[in-house]
Amino acid sequence: MTHPHLLVETNGPVRTITLNNPDRRNAQTPSLWAALAQEAQAVGDDIRVVVLRGTGASFSAGIDTAMFSAEGVPGEERMDQVAAGGSDAVQRAIAAYQEGFTRWAQCPAVVIAQVHGHAIGAGFQLALAADLRVAALDAWFAMRETSLGLVPDLGGTGPLVHLVGYARALEMCATGRPVTGPEAHSIGLVNSIAPAADLAEATESLVDAILFTSPEAVRALKPLLRAAIDNDPAGQAAAERAAQTPLLMGRMAPPV
Ligand code: CAA
Repeated sequence: MTHPHLLVETNGPVRTITLNNPDRRNAQTPSLWAALAQEAQAVGDDIRVVVLRGTGASFSAGIDTAMFSAEGVPGEERMDQVAAGGSDAVQRAIAAYQEGFTRWAQCPAVVIAQVHGHAIGAGFQLALAADLRVAALDAWFAMRETSLGLVPDLGGTGPLVHLVGYARALEMCATGRPVTGPEAHSIGLVNSIAPAADLAEATESLVDAILFTSPEAVRALKPLLRAAIDNDPAGQAAAERAAQTPLLMGRMAPPV
């Protein structure tokens, strides 16, 4: 799958997916979300880490706001037309958009969002779709949907609440205020922060640390830890046993 605003590079077990529409601050559209969903689906066991990042001044300034205008974005569906289709059509459209975000949770690789500049609205939600986040000190995150009379609906509300708690999530979304890199780090929204000039290096260090460990173990770990969010203790203990059994048997198998 190719998209004019997406660069995909694979270097051994690491795939880097770059939003590449810097003139519009990597604003997002339905065709980009479809391309992101296909990229997430295309990640196989040979890829161990995916890095999501953006070119130019921003990681992503969110949905292309021209989608709400009468002119729309050339080649993209317009929001007024989607809304005119009625409730079922709106629900179907949003479900398709969400795939570009939620599918990253199912892909076998560890997904890292490397965030610099702005991560606004859909940009913030794309960062939340990743497993891990590395941010520049001067990056800022803002959930601006409420200022457009909307709610975040691209898969971001669940991860946000899990990461920072209900009260902080509500405050962030209700006010739309910017959350800076250091604050994001202090509340657990991002895993690490680095000066903008060192951001790529900080991501590389994290990638290297993941690559150093067992591919099979990390592949089993991601769904195991994600399941812990919903499982009760007994269910999670069973999930641990199920994940560990083939790993332990493989490790203890006599050499042939
Ligand atoms: N959509 C389309 N174009 C955008 C854009 C967006 N979201 N954000 C920035 N751009 C464009 C600007 O129109 C401008 O284009 P021109 O050069 O042709 O005028 C260019 O990118 C540079 O923007 P600025 O001059 O504003 O750059 P800045 O560095 O001063 O500010 C910014 C950057 C803070 C990101 C600011 O552009 C901004 O606030 N953008 C809008 C952010 C926004 O409200 N996004 C929607 C959030 S809601 C959402 O995403 C989810 C949803 O479903 C509703």
